[in-house]
Amino acid sequence: TMLSGPSMAQGSYPSKPITILVPAAAGGPSDTVARLVAEAMRVDLGQQVLIENVGGAGGSLGTGRVAKASPDGYTLLLYHIGVATFGPLYPDLSYKPGEDFDSVGLVTDVPMTLVGRKDLAPADVTALFTWLKGEGKGATFGTAGVGAVSDLCGRLLTDAAGIELTVVPYKGTGPAMNDLVGGQIDLMCDQTTNTANQIKAGEIKPYAVTTKERIAILPQVPTLAETAIKDFEISAWHAIWAPKGTPEAIRQKLSASLQKALKDPKVIERFAALGTAPVSADMATPAALDKRFQSELARWGKLLANASTK
Ligand code: MLT
Repeated sequence: TMLSGPSMAQGSYPSKPITILVPAAAGGPSDTVARLVAEAMRVDLGQQVLIENVGGAGGSLGTGRVAKASPDGYTLLLYHIGVATFGPLYPDLSYKPGEDFDSVGLVTDVPMTLVGRKDLAPADVTALFTWLKGEGKGATFGTAGVGAVSDLCGRLLTDAAGIELTVVPYKGTGPAMNDLVGGQIDLMCDQTTNTANQIKAGEIKPYAVTTKERIAILPQVPTLAETAIKDFEISAWHAIWAPKGTPEAIRQKLSASLQKALKDPKVIERFAALGTAPVSADMATPAALDKRFQSELARWGKLLANASTK
């Protein structure tokens, strides 16, 4: 006989592979976080946890796909601050960021870095902004499209510093980084999970970090706040969401598994090498993500109310 009904389904969850959709290209910062966490959750859940990359339109393409997926715990979204910030600004968005998802938990809060191609002329961040106001006006700036945190950082920079950038959108900052290393674009503002290794290898030039304090793996890199732009601060908090209607018991089970994954010494070590750290267990919960989402909507909504989505 077939066993069915919601309680039976939840009791045996997960009974087949889970897919975590990442709405950005493979090899980029969101993908890196997702793969590290998925591997640890796979061990705990006893099922495969697959990653599917659906990049494009600043993450809104893939995010929309998860919004329409069956709320059964087998399709999840791992993405970041972008869902709570730009998403609501698209008038024709295929989903409602605050309404079409149920929370699982926060994952990590990743510092960002303003970086340039390695042969870019300005030697430091102060010289960079001087250059951007003169000879370097309209320099190319790679992003993952409107809605991406790399794009958000660029908007904050242009507003705060009174500069102009020529935005070059990609399906994720993974491919954008390839072009920065190759010298096809001038600048990016991207997460350390996608820049730390290239900075250490001397493949790109670090100008500044976007956090309040300098970060341990790049102690020589100044903060924007201490140099060019007072009070500048942004980081990319990542989270896991499920489609609206995913049973509470399933989300709690996923949250518990996420909490274990984030305590895995291998995960902690890999995150640290990339300039970040897992959130504490109490943050990897539906309630903590709900709270963060609401406060971020309030924080960015006003600031971005007049932003163009072009
Ligand atoms: C990515 O994984 O490509 C990034 O998270 C995109 C972004 O900058 O938001």
